Amino acid sequence: MRFDQSFLDEIRDRLPVSQVVSKRVKLKRQGREFIGLSPFKQEKTPSFTVNDQKGFYHCFASGEHGDIFKFLQVTEGLSFPESVERLAGEAGLDMPRAAPGEEQRERGRDRLRDVMEEACLYFEAALKDPPGGIARDYLRARGVTAETQDAFRIGYGGRDRHGLKEHLASKDFTAGEMVTAGVVIAGDDIPVSYDRFRERLIFPIRDSRGKVIAFGGRALAEGVKAKYVNSPETPLFHKRSVLFNMGAARQAAYEKAQVIVVEGYMDVIALAQAGFPNAVAPLGTALTDDQLKLLWRMAAEPVLCFDGDEAGLRAAYRAVDTALPLLEPGRSLTFAFMPHGQDPDDLIAGQGAGAFRAFIEKARPLAGVLWAREVEGGDFATPERRAALEDRLAELLRKITSKRVRRHYGDDIAERLKKLWSGGRPDPRAPGGGRMGRNSARRPGFDRKTAHGFSPNRQWNIWGQGPASESLKQSALVRGRSQIASREALILHTLLNHPWLVEAHPEEIAEIRFENVGLNALRDAMLNLMSCDKPLDSEAFRTQLSQSESGAAVAQVERAITHKSDWFAEPGAAHCDVETGWRHILALHRKSVELGRELEAAERAYQSEESETALERLNDIHRQLCDLDGREASIEGYGAQSGRSADSVS
Ligand code: UTP
Ligand code: MN
Repeated sequence: MRFDQSFLDEIRDRLPVSQVVSKRVKLKRQGREFIGLSPFKQEKTPSFTVNDQKGFYHCFASGEHGDIFKFLQVTEGLSFPESVERLAGEAGLDMPRAAPGEEQRERGRDRLRDVMEEACLYFEAALKDPPGGIARDYLRARGVTAETQDAFRIGYGGRDRHGLKEHLASKDFTAGEMVTAGVVIAGDDIPVSYDRFRERLIFPIRDSRGKVIAFGGRALAEGVKAKYVNSPETPLFHKRSVLFNMGAARQAAYEKAQVIVVEGYMDVIALAQAGFPNAVAPLGTALTDDQLKLLWRMAAEPVLCFDGDEAGLRAAYRAVDTALPLLEPGRSLTFAFMPHGQDPDDLIAGQGAGAFRAFIEKARPLAGVLWAREVEGGDFATPERRAALEDRLAELLRKITSKRVRRHYGDDIAERLKKLWSGGRPDPRAPGGGRMGRNSARRPGFDRKTAHGFSPNRQWNIWGQGPASESLKQSALVRGRSQIASREALILHTLLNHPWLVEAHPEEIAEIRFENVGLNALRDAMLNLMSCDKPLDSEAFRTQLSQSESGAAVAQVERAITHKSDWFAEPGAAHCDVETGWRHILALHRKSVELGRELEAAERAYQSEESETALERLNDIHRQLCDLDGREASIEGYGAQSGRSADSVS
């Protein structure tokens, strides 16, 4: 039987690969992936990886590769339909009935998709026509470029009550199909059916594969009864399990390891245009379970943006409650509060992308927001009130279903309670105290000392989420960082010229942590190419990568400055020299990653202590980082095989 693609997608959305695989293979988290011993080969060191975001597993020992359905087929010998049936059960989904009725329904949905696509084209064309001038003016006034309009397929629904209806009829769609798709309104009390979206700017809502499944229509004039008119629920569109822009954001979120959640269509659009393509929005409702699960497939800790006013705060608290039962190790949310009365679109229009980024970087962990909610404005002067707070917190803890997460929340809350009780009444300005210290989260650079001698901003750092101070980053790290970048480029440059290295050391290569996310993606692409195909020569390897999504990263690697000592990376070098030089660079890279981590920790320590010792430590690590520079090729006897004397190397 033929399965509806969206049904298979829904199973994939609900069941992370790691969950399915871990029933058979013991998995350990490593960065964004999981690793474990291959179920296909006897082995002692793990070469089996699982990537939930990409939705597949890959075994470097055997070359086996696939999604959750394939996994059950190859490990348990199930047929494809059997694997679907089993996993649908696990996902809590009913199997589509194999009856002819189902096929008919699927064909019906295909028709509805065609209606939506045709309607979308119609709206897009209308935006470019003369009557669309009013909508174009509106977009211009709000700074939406033509490029952005095309990327989001923004359109215009004109004044004509029957324009779309007649257009669709001319394409042989029936009145019933138009109504079911939600673009035409009919009813017993409506003598003549009419277009739903009129005199509105149209934002198409697309599924994760990019297919149009609904529309949002924004009024162009002020004072219109409904600011937005949205598609109703249809066989294609269940607004509680869709996020605006989820298709495009998914890829971007994976590359940036971050997804940003905002409230409105216009926020998503403004963000994409300002260089944050990894933004999504729910569709006029509070975040649902399904939407949270979608978000966690994009990133481990989505950032939710809220207005800094009371309503925004309430919405944030609601999201906390939705998230608690769904938390898992490594999976949480963070909260960024915008300045009072501004949404991300306003903020970017007024103060630019940098201002928005500053708020995102100050996003607060869920645990802190939860705590703030419970103690906000509270007076715990009496034992009874204190006991009541403890009861409330215990009640909340019970909502966390993951045992391990619950235990750590318990520890976290116990720690905070200890501080609260020993500090007397909560400091109204401290985060977690009185009014949550949200003022501090709103004002970049705000670092006022409180009566207790600690600053709200510094307190965020103690919670492990605070941003490193910009000035420190600027001064101590700039040189070290650019050195890291060129070293990273050199590692990949060598692989581009010598793909045999990829074949020889896939596991080691899979473990390299590049700071630059694009380079991580390029590395993954290299591994995929090598494992999927017959061995490629360097030329074919480069060509395929250049034409892939990692094309830009290839160009970046090739543009990176090379030094005389980098000759081993070039095509002509002898294999043994290539390998030695490459390993050397790799070792330096690992060392610098390690130092980078230490530097961050030292920086945090310095921020919270401001002691001499902390500063010394910071300087020491910085010196070590600088020492790594210029050590790229100091290896004895190296280069002889390539016809070079050791002297000519350095
Ligand atoms: P907002 O009122 O914040 O609108 O609603 P916005 O997106 O910022 O739009 P602009 O900037 O005024 O143009 C946030 C979201 O709530 C839903 C929409 O999804 C909107 O993007 N909404 C709002 C509705 O569905 N219906 C409404 O009448 C209003
Ligand atoms: Mn807005």
